[in-house]
Amino acid sequence: MDLIPAPLGLRADADQHFLLDAGTGLDGGPGTEGVQRWLRDTVGAATGLPLPPGAGIVLRVAPELADEEYRLTVGAEGVELVGGPAGLFWGAQTLRQLLGPEAFRRAPLKREGWRLPWLTVEDAPRFGWRGVLLDVSRHFLPKADVLRYLDLLAAHKLNVLHLHLTDDQGWRVEIKRYPRLTDVGAARERSMVGYRSGGNRDNRPHGGFYTQDDLREIVAYAAERRITVVPEIDIPGHAQAAIAAYPELGNHDVVDTAALATWTDWGVNPNVLNVDDGTLRFYENVLDEVLEVFPSTFVHLGGDECPKEQWRASPSAQARIKEQGLSDEDELQSWFLRHFDSWLAARGRRLIGWDEILEGGMLEEHSDKGGGGRREGGLAPGAAVSSWRGYAGGVAAAQAGHDVVMCPEQQVYLDHRQAPGDDEPVPVGWVRTLEDVYRFEPVPPVLRQDPAAAAHVIGTQANLWTEFMDDVREVDYHAFPRLAAFAEVAWSRLPQEPAERDWAGFAARMAVHRARLDALGVEYRPESGPRPWQRRPGVQGRPIEGAPPEV
Ligand code: ACM
Repeated sequence: MDLIPAPLGLRADADQHFLLDAGTGLDGGPGTEGVQRWLRDTVGAATGLPLPPGAGIVLRVAPELADEEYRLTVGAEGVELVGGPAGLFWGAQTLRQLLGPEAFRRAPLKREGWRLPWLTVEDAPRFGWRGVLLDVSRHFLPKADVLRYLDLLAAHKLNVLHLHLTDDQGWRVEIKRYPRLTDVGAARERSMVGYRSGGNRDNRPHGGFYTQDDLREIVAYAAERRITVVPEIDIPGHAQAAIAAYPELGNHDVVDTAALATWTDWGVNPNVLNVDDGTLRFYENVLDEVLEVFPSTFVHLGGDECPKEQWRASPSAQARIKEQGLSDEDELQSWFLRHFDSWLAARGRRLIGWDEILEGGMLEEHSDKGGGGRREGGLAPGAAVSSWRGYAGGVAAAQAGHDVVMCPEQQVYLDHRQAPGDDEPVPVGWVRTLEDVYRFEPVPPVLRQDPAAAAHVIGTQANLWTEFMDDVREVDYHAFPRLAAFAEVAWSRLPQEPAERDWAGFAARMAVHRARLDALGVEYRPESGPRPWQRRPGVQGRPIEGAPPEV
């Protein structure tokens, strides 16, 4: 049936089909209204079938099934779809795939001949967190593109959109209390084109931001599709856009922060937040508004790539180190993040951060380990880690009892190139082909030997950093078709050993899946390489040669 991601179980009941026509009805019990609406809106639009209330396709919430589990049966009487509340929606995605690629258009090319094979699909995901990061800071993605990406995630049974909303190069979320964050921080004068050493700049301002109502709409649209939007507000590094808007947030006892603008370079930036009380209060106020817009349990606070030079030079940061009895700037960073970790926990939310948040003694127990009654080392028990520099951070966190989302840059950074050679648009990183992504295993061998720790790997995520993708067409090129392989890694209970995965079988299913992506209007990378207009001749990248290291 060419389903992607592959379901847990599929039995073709006979070589027969159920035909859908204008009389085919759609009905369901309580709790199925949202999925009925989605089927009428989406499958109805593609097929031209009105799907009036009545017999034909029947939906039911089944309390005995897990939230994301479903069972889809097609026979002589029609379709029965039962599932947990979310499982019903994933079952509806399977039903759409079974109708053929033309069910992925927005208007019908044909009015009849819609048919479903008799079968039973019993399905449930391997991981509860099947995520994609969109970096809307480096290059802003208009709201319409974000909504389209939610549809693309849903079609692949992916269920977390991690929105990287703030960074040095742009602040993208309206904060009513601090309007300069977007008045100043949402725009930059120009951008670097390609990698730093290429020396290329455009002379074109770039910017954009989402109002809180835009974000509420995105969150609600996602929720209808069983997708959680996890916002990221990156602290204490990657914060120059905020400092440009409010210079008092930076290390003004070291550098002239009033002279800083939203950053026009890519890379790791020395201009980080200061650790004064005013900065703590500022970000609490920001987060108050963020929590109001995003109901997600997890709130991502970054924590990555925070150079410590300014803190080393800053009398104010050094005074904080002394006051808190900390031993160095790494511990100062953990003190700063721990503050917000506790702040979120007190509001029933959970911190998630990049694996740098483990530095500075963060995996130690909550205790007064320093003596003197001042220190409280360690992350709150509910805090979780996005393991990006490899598996190691995630392994250490899981072994210490913290939840982990595995997203190692060596494997699932989809800004990295898809093939060797100069034709790839702005070639950066390691070569990660469709097959490489298909063979990615989120639970490394060391954790497979330790089931209790392995259970803390709550999922996996593919990250789309956009320094070198300046519009949605380039995001499509980098994301697809690899996101289809990633979806199968995240959803399907594949053999544990990546080498045992049926790559040939997946590649064969991809032939049909590419037709679905064509119908959806996704500008994926063709197997034969980029089309002429998908190349970026002359724009320098930063390819890394050889296979990525095992980390
Ligand atoms: C990261 O790639 N800096 C999380």
